[in-house]
Amino acid sequence: MKTILITGCNRGIGFEFVRQFSLMDINIIATYRNKSSSEELLSLAEKSSNIALLELDVSSNQSIEEFVNSMSEKPIDIYINNAGMMGSGARTFGEVKGDRWLEVFNVNTVAPLLLTQKLFGNFLKGKDKKLVYVSSKVGSIGDNSGGGSYIYRSSKTALNQVVKSLSIDLKDQGFEVVAVHPGWVQTDMGGPNALIDVTTSVAGLINVITNLNGSDSGKFFNYDGQTIPW
Ligand SMILES: NC(=O)c1ccc[n+]([C@@H]2O[C@H](COP(=O)([O-])OP(=O)(O)OC[C@H]3O[C@@H](n4cnc5c(N)ncnc54)[C@H](OP(=O)(O)O)[C@@H]3O)[C@@H](O)[C@H]2O)c1
Repeated sequence: MKTILITGCNRGIGFEFVRQFSLMDINIIATYRNKSSSEELLSLAEKSSNIALLELDVSSNQSIEEFVNSMSEKPIDIYINNAGMMGSGARTFGEVKGDRWLEVFNVNTVAPLLLTQKLFGNFLKGKDKKLVYVSSKVGSIGDNSGGGSYIYRSSKTALNQVVKSLSIDLKDQGFEVVAVHPGWVQTDMGGPNALIDVTTSVAGLINVITNLNGSDSGKFFNYDGQTIPW
């Protein structure tokens, strides 16, 4: 059976990835930060034979080290870097605070590359060799007609650049590396007025991931399979 590793699984899109994959013939390693805010995930894992849970706070070097050590030699076929944050507080011109920006940058941009570097031995042992990074359309420079959102936008734009470089650097080892946009989704981050529900978003993303073929590396996909300009 294939093994898929997903980060940030206690709620929102990450939880829905786990729920939908748990119905398939696939092993899932799902990460969460706090037991106290992960009741639904803990209960789903108890009922499902194919979900293993591990703790991971991607903003903590110590947590990353402990997590990577606990992964030891496990092969990972598909990696979904989902954990991400919008950041609280001012995000408009004239009000942006450097410390808030760095906090978001650390989670959305730095951690995805550090985890990829540290888990690379696990990824090399996997067969599918698919690395998927949940980005956002607001990170697309070509699509930016609204301005603002300096912190979140720039963190996802930089993540996209990380994805592009990984797709080039890891090509010869057979990896497919893509960025995906889940749509504007009704989660804590997307809010109740978002355009689509989490079931639709994740079903679309799973379809995109399943259908990745050798020529898709280095692309940025919408949840419906359309490509998005960088
Ligand atoms: N919802 C949308 O409309 C939308 C649109 C475009 C892109 N996205 C992207 O989709 C991904 C998932 O978003 P979502 O809508 O599901 O957001 P969400 O409901 O706010 O969930 C975010 C997830 O990331 C985890 N996370 C945050 N900081 C973390 C850290 N330091 N270490 C480990 N986990 C951490 C959260 O865990 P805790 O509960 O412990 O905080 C939670 O599981 C994100 O990368 C987001 O940027 C979402």
